[in-house]
Amino acid sequence: MATTSTNPLDDPAADPFEIARRAAGDIARLTGVEQHDIALTLGSGWGKAAELIGETIATIPAAEVTGFSKPALEGHVGTLRSVRTPDGKNVLVIGARTHYYEGHGVRRVVHSVRTAAATGARTMVLTNGAGGIKAQWTPGQPVLISDHINLTADSPLEGATFVDLTDLYSSRLRDLARTIDPSLDEGVYCQFRGPHYETPAEVQMAKTIGGHIVGMSTALEAIAAREAGLEVLGFSLITNLAAGIQTTPLSHAEVIEAGREAEPVISALLARVIGAL
Ligand code: HPA
Repeated sequence: MATTSTNPLDDPAADPFEIARRAAGDIARLTGVEQHDIALTLGSGWGKAAELIGETIATIPAAEVTGFSKPALEGHVGTLRSVRTPDGKNVLVIGARTHYYEGHGVRRVVHSVRTAAATGARTMVLTNGAGGIKAQWTPGQPVLISDHINLTADSPLEGATFVDLTDLYSSRLRDLARTIDPSLDEGVYCQFRGPHYETPAEVQMAKTIGGHIVGMSTALEAIAAREAGLEVLGFSLITNLAAGIQTTPLSHAEVIEAGREAEPVISALLARVIGAL
């Protein structure tokens, strides 16, 4: 597999941070924006936020940036966008997420986060669509991520790199988000490998160990963000109640539909939060 790859991240001898710096150079050249202040990864349901944050300065295909992969899923946009907020902050909007379940290794999963840090960003906003465990949640509801449980048995950190993950999902930024929408609930995000959805028994396990949200992204990205010195804010859109919490079977179509319906409302919320950062 690796022998046919043209992605420099697949060379084990390569330095992923050096590749991220090259990617940041590509972004500066292709967008004309030298430096970004905030990075935002858009998960399913959150896509409209890009238009609401401010003026789009440039949109570029992620595939033209060093180390980025083509999108694996239809409906996942493969673009990077530079957006300027009304108060002059530059936001790098990442619409090109590589999921762990794609099997390309964790370096590719966190490359966008490392690149964001290399562009100068100090804040990383991670969003996703996910299953809800709290019975009072309803599909279409956005929630804050308060912490995570990484069930992938993997880490983006290489070598003996010991990184503290206390307050990983910044309580300061969560408080700030609640000044925009005081009704925002929060929960602990459990990252499973996927791409299959969890069994009801796995969802019960996640609940027992303290989880409230189940998903297939974000935790590995958040770890890399902390390593890179970024302050993290995480949002999940509850697209469905997790397997066994809802009695009907889960479907990708249902997840996409819930995202589409919620998109205008949650994107407006996200844009207001970004404006306040
Ligand atoms: N589980 C995992 N990932 C998901 C789910 C879920 O129930 N819904 C949307 N993404």
